[in-house]
Amino acid sequence: MRQKRELWKTHWGMIFAMIGTEVGLGNIWRFPYLVGKYGGGVFLIPYIVLLLGAAVFAMIAEWVLGRHTRRDPLGAFEKIKFPFGRDIGAWGIIGPFFLYSYYIVITGWVIFFIAASLGRLYFGQDSEQFFLNFLASPWIFAVHALAIFITSGILALGVQKGIERACKFMIPTLFILLIIVAIRSITLPGASSGIEFYMRPRWEGLLNPQTWIAALGQVFFTLSLGMGAMLIYGSYLRNEWGIPANALACTLGNTASSILAGFAIFPAAFALGFGALVGGSESIGLTFFVLPRVFEKMPAGWLFGGLFFILLSFGALSSAISIQEPSIAWLKEEVGWRRKKSALITGIILWAMGLPFLLNGFLVGGLGKKLALLGKMDIIIGQLALPLFGLLSVIAVGHFMRKAGYQEINKNAKHKIGTWIMPWIRWVVPIFVLLLFFLSLIKVLQDLGRIPQILPVVTMPEFQPIGITRSTIAMIITICTIIWGGFVFMTYRVITTEKEKARNKK
Ligand code: ALA
Repeated sequence: MRQKRELWKTHWGMIFAMIGTEVGLGNIWRFPYLVGKYGGGVFLIPYIVLLLGAAVFAMIAEWVLGRHTRRDPLGAFEKIKFPFGRDIGAWGIIGPFFLYSYYIVITGWVIFFIAASLGRLYFGQDSEQFFLNFLASPWIFAVHALAIFITSGILALGVQKGIERACKFMIPTLFILLIIVAIRSITLPGASSGIEFYMRPRWEGLLNPQTWIAALGQVFFTLSLGMGAMLIYGSYLRNEWGIPANALACTLGNTASSILAGFAIFPAAFALGFGALVGGSESIGLTFFVLPRVFEKMPAGWLFGGLFFILLSFGALSSAISIQEPSIAWLKEEVGWRRKKSALITGIILWAMGLPFLLNGFLVGGLGKKLALLGKMDIIIGQLALPLFGLLSVIAVGHFMRKAGYQEINKNAKHKIGTWIMPWIRWVVPIFVLLLFFLSLIKVLQDLGRIPQILPVVTMPEFQPIGITRSTIAMIITICTIIWGGFVFMTYRVITTEKEKARNKK
């Protein structure tokens, strides 16, 4: 029994929900780290090329598939007559389930660190030991359950009253808090070397193949592609909203938050003497014992640490919501369960699926071992399974929807995209996604020692501060103009276009 499906209520609500699924742990920690590691401002070149050349088209493909079929991933692939459509589409529900199972564990840690910062719990302690003690305490079970309760609770309320309303609060708040923390960070004495580390173009980064591999992985993860999330959120899009301009506005909004995150983290870290430590911290686990050291030394650090973890929790929760939603939509629309029941049952299953990660952290000794299971899952799901599902949506639109796909892309769009977009989606984007998949596979096998070192490893020269140069200033101005300027301009355009259309209708 298929139930009536909801659509996004307002245009702003849709934009915040979409940015909500995109902005998450990947933006606030991983993006700034990659920028600092792979050549400062120059990392933005491969990032923007791959974002606008491939990832945004993959995102458009997921929206098109969702809106055209108005179904959950399983039904969507079936409806367009994709071979083995239901089996393939099932991955759009199962994959996100596995992703959520560990993503929400980290979200729970973030929630705990809000209280730990505001209550100054880690102040005056060895922060690594504090984190280890936390992982071995009953608190990890409590915050994990709380995080699942929050996402399931919001989802139980529905698309408009739950997801949209929550994102309308969380995402603008996240931006405001990020701006506050960034201002605090860049106004600390000595912050300039952090700004330099983050933004000074170090051109050798561009010639490093690892930079391109990292950028390719990041653009797909940050846009939440292959997670069923964009497909299901796309299925709630109203017909009157043009897809290309809205997709661009949301993509720029996501990147704007990533850029800002680096300004919130690096200047403070360098100003307070933790530059090398923070700049070299790849693992997400380090968020929880490197940054606390920075907050401990910062004037009113308990407050800024608290604000930082609040904004990080909003990013993580709004992403987690979108990763849980495909299964709820499927249960509701195809199995015929009520939304509340679907949210409750998926919440319970996801809670159980998180237990192995919690128990691994709780029972096993040593930080590396405590985080090992979570790291493995991230490699299997985040780096290997998601690109493949992303590829299927792109193939679905490019090869199985063709004319219908093209019409859906341009439906009610003020500026229509030429027919060139179809061969681009059909061939160019899949090549990028396949490239990402094979590079990830090689890297994983290499790291496991299963195959010899094939991918060249180019070690980046150690960062040597030379002061804010003209090229650093030029880079900051260019990036802020393109990304922040582009975001504000595109959002203004899509909102005013809609108002214009509404006036003309009257
Ligand atoms: N796009 C989400 C993130 O970056 C999943 O965390």
